[in-house]
Amino acid sequence: MEHLFIKKAATEPVLVLLHGTGGDERDLLALGEFLMPNASLLGIRGEVSEQGMNRFFRRFGEGQFDLVDLAKQTENLVSTLDKLASQYDFDLAQVVLVGYSNGANIGGHLLLTQELPINRGIFFHSMLLVEKSIQQSQQAQKVWLSYGRQDPLVAEKNFNALKAAYAKRGTEISVYEAEMSHGITQEELAEAKRWLTR
Ligand code: MLT
Repeated sequence: MEHLFIKKAATEPVLVLLHGTGGDERDLLALGEFLMPNASLLGIRGEVSEQGMNRFFRRFGEGQFDLVDLAKQTENLVSTLDKLASQYDFDLAQVVLVGYSNGANIGGHLLLTQELPINRGIFFHSMLLVEKSIQQSQQAQKVWLSYGRQDPLVAEKNFNALKAAYAKRGTEISVYEAEMSHGITQEELAEAKRWLTR
């Protein structure tokens, strides 16, 4: 997959940055730098194009996801991360998945469905894509999730189901909720940073 790697100290985390619809591998670089200045940054570009806008998996319309493509693209992301970890010499256990919207959705889906050494995620405005077949993880996973009470794209019911799915997986969950819409706020970013660096 198209990507960009910015190497920092080998002992620090590697933030894997997953953009929202229409973004690219550079979109979340400043956000990653803000969250953890010492972390290496790996920005990845989604391989699906929706009328020229990059995404990580196909959809038929707003909120109508192509789950066959989701499964395929999640495998693709997993093998890409495996390959890039050897290429850039980091360990998957160092990875923190950081995603916004569409990127948060695939990152979250990866943590909920795959058994990998990757065990941390920061997901801005994400939703649950597949409810079935979520099982207890063998890893001690931790996620930070944000939810906007005015978000027209993420229904409260879906966000509650997302939290329930992580609970079923045995994941330690931290939630930031506010009267916001689908965009990321400064306050929200500051909370994510506190969580990551605590
Ligand atoms: C988006 O526009 O990115 C959606 O709300 C989330 C998604 O499509 O995965």
